[in-house]
Amino acid sequence: MKIMSVVGARPNFMKIAPFIRALDTHRRQTSAACIEHLLVHTGQHYDERMSRSFFEDLQIPRPDIDLGVGSGSHAEQVGSTMIAFEKVVREQRPDWVIVVGDVNATCACSITAKKEHLKLAHIEAGLRSFDLDMPEEINRMVTDRLSDLLCTTDTIASQNLRHEGVPDERIKMVGNIMIDTLEAQREKAAALSIDEIIAANRINQDSAVRKNTPYALITMHRPSNVDQIEVLAPILEFLLGEVCADTPLLWPIHPRTEKQLKSCNLWAKAMSHPNCILLSPLGYRQMLRLNMDASLMLTDSGGLQEECCVLGTPCLTLRWNTERPVTLREHGGAGVLVGNAVDSLRREYRQLRQQTRTPQRPPLWDGHTAQRIVAELIQAG
Ligand code: UD1
Repeated sequence: MKIMSVVGARPNFMKIAPFIRALDTHRRQTSAACIEHLLVHTGQHYDERMSRSFFEDLQIPRPDIDLGVGSGSHAEQVGSTMIAFEKVVREQRPDWVIVVGDVNATCACSITAKKEHLKLAHIEAGLRSFDLDMPEEINRMVTDRLSDLLCTTDTIASQNLRHEGVPDERIKMVGNIMIDTLEAQREKAAALSIDEIIAANRINQDSAVRKNTPYALITMHRPSNVDQIEVLAPILEFLLGEVCADTPLLWPIHPRTEKQLKSCNLWAKAMSHPNCILLSPLGYRQMLRLNMDASLMLTDSGGLQEECCVLGTPCLTLRWNTERPVTLREHGGAGVLVGNAVDSLRREYRQLRQQTRTPQRPPLWDGHTAQRIVAELIQAG
């Protein structure tokens, strides 16, 4: 059996690492040398901090094929990925194409795989925000509609697929593969020093966190939060004026957000606040380490909502909806949706900053999801 898996952007890397490891283990244990695996990187994320450092931290083998697609509009990214990936699959003829998550690479390679009559498996299928303004929601819907094997993280995701008419036998609830990576890296992350992480990554040079001081952590990159000054400026005002008045705020900054802050003339303001500690994008373990001790997370990332759930970090999700409802307070998680209007943000922030850490583990978020995926794949043949 020839398996080709695809990664494109930062959130894909922690999902593919355990899958490749589980495939290797399976091959070793069963001496099933007949399973061949090729890794394709589309190159949507390409720089050291958004891509290469994750390959090192997570011990992902070098991609066999790099499509070098790079940045661009959605149509440019999806179009050039499809053109390049078509050549690769025509040459390699894999039996299965494995895609993960919901980025442009996921959708582009799914369409190409099916047009080439290849079997397609989607890891992290069935997540729905029901918000078509999110590019990721379109990617999820297209990918799931085309997939032969749909590996879901939880029962809500499986139910979403059933409602869309996906035949039951294609849906496999396997748990959350992100948590495999979290568990595999937990110990190494715990050994890192927070001071050293800050010193190695800080952008505004005067910043520091005093030892044992509580701190908040933020990540923000969604177009809905950062692309318009009318939304971005009041959020920044709230962060600097209120959050930073209470605790230091550590802010690993996504390239999209840095660009937008600069083009809206807000960068200098963020840089000059003594309690706002701007950091370059962090490696996986560094981010996990900061999350472990943060008193509060503010984020619009999907993966961080899940990691906060398992670590118990109180999490203000800077979105009006989420495709990961299982991480929310009403489902037993640590997350609260606060959107991006300052009133709701402030209300929930005041409540949540009093909250203590309560880790929760939804069923099968146990660190062994990748093994179950490999077993399903082999059974599906
Ligand atoms: C993409 C994903 C999103 C995911 C996010 C994580 C889609 C539709 N979106 O959004 O789901 O949560 O990645 O980061 O696939 N850039 C760099 N260096 C890089 C890569 C990008 O500087 O290595 C810059 C680009 O020039 C671009 C911006 O970052 O202007 C955004 O990159 P892009 O891949 O278009 O989308 P993301 O916002 O990162």
